Amino acid sequence: MAYRLFEGKKHAALYLKYRVSPSDHLIQQVLGFLEKQKGRPFELAVDVGCGSGQGTLLLAKHFASVVGTDVSPAQLELALQHAQQANITYRECVAEELPFADSSVDLVTAMTAFHWFDRPRFLQEAHRVLKPRGCLALLSYTMDIELSYRDCCAHTLNQVSQEFYAALKPYRNPHLGPSSIDLYRAAYESIPYPDKEWSVCG
Ligand SMILES: C[S@@+](CC[C@H](N)C(=O)[O-])C[C@H]1O[C@@H](n2cnc3c(N)ncnc32)[C@H](O)[C@@H]1O
Repeated sequence: MAYRLFEGKKHAALYLKYRVSPSDHLIQQVLGFLEKQKGRPFELAVDVGCGSGQGTLLLAKHFASVVGTDVSPAQLELALQHAQQANITYRECVAEELPFADSSVDLVTAMTAFHWFDRPRFLQEAHRVLKPRGCLALLSYTMDIELSYRDCCAHTLNQVSQEFYAALKPYRNPHLGPSSIDLYRAAYESIPYPDKEWSVCG
């Protein structure tokens, strides 16, 4: 079962304004893995659940073409306004039925989105569209992090953040279970590819 929560226009506008992009370092790690597995050229990347497209944009300079897909027309509309690079296009579709031919995609990414999908169906679909030795990258962040701000107040900052997330915890969507890192770890362990890499960045 998939969960659809981020589709409205207001939500999409907040995404475009506040969403944190994945770091270049993380994208480089993914590309390094792809290079090792499949080698170049990097022709087609598909960013599934692309939202307002911050992550999709980071892929564009490394691939001949990049397609951002999302179930939400409002998110895709903002993604298109935000980034109009000639090699990026967007498609409205569900993650579990991707509009790509078998064995046609070099890299499939899902950035902070996989946990909302029907996970087993998405994994099968990603497998179908990937070229032999193509790669799937499931990226996300969790709140088990240490915050810092310049030289100041790390202790207070972390205390406030922990209180904030503890207060929200009872409202956590049951589709996610109690821990995001456990959810991703279980997905990672379920994936039967012989070559895979688990990485936690600080
Ligand atoms: C948490 S947002 C992440 C957006 C973006 N990747 C980012 O990192 O900012 C999840 C996105 O996945 C989309 N989404 C959720 N379930 C989906 C599904 N089953 N198929 C396609 N898109 C889905 C939502 O519309 C939303 O834009």
